Amino acid sequence: MTHSEIEVIIEQYGSRESAILSILQDIQAKEKYLPREALEHLGEKLGIPINKIYRIATFYRALSLMPRGRHEVCVCVGTACHVRGAQRIIDQMKLELGIRPGETTKDRNFTLETVNCLGVCAAGPVVAIDGQYFGKMISGKVDGTLKKYRSDKKKKEGANGKA
Ligand code: FES
Repeated sequence: MTHSEIEVIIEQYGSRESAILSILQDIQAKEKYLPREALEHLGEKLGIPINKIYRIATFYRALSLMPRGRHEVCVCVGTACHVRGAQRIIDQMKLELGIRPGETTKDRNFTLETVNCLGVCAAGPVVAIDGQYFGKMISGKVDGTLKKYRSDKKKKEGANGKA
């Protein structure tokens, strides 16, 4: 993210300290995480010490200092999903993606997370990908469910001439 892109976001909210959270959310939405250089530039522009910005950035779970994947895969590990086999889903996800919960694939296509309840316990085990819910999940359906998100990426690369 360039300095001028950050400044455009700042202009939208005004260079007030109280706008910091909205600005961080916009940077996060664009970059999928909060790059250190962006936070430093933001601190300079708003006159806020960098350690204060880091405190805010680490307080909110929706903000991340680590690069995130284009697709967020959340496996519910709440009680209802747990008793219906959520651990088997996590094990299969780990196998398919080659990462553990909290990690992002090297190609930055997927971030794997666990959550404590997605609010649809009767459909457990439940997985949410980019906010879309997949209920009654079994390990045999994991590959097929991820496939759409894998091919989305390949389609985009093809359109960019990368194949
Ligand atoms: S425990 Fe999984 S959706 Fe509620």
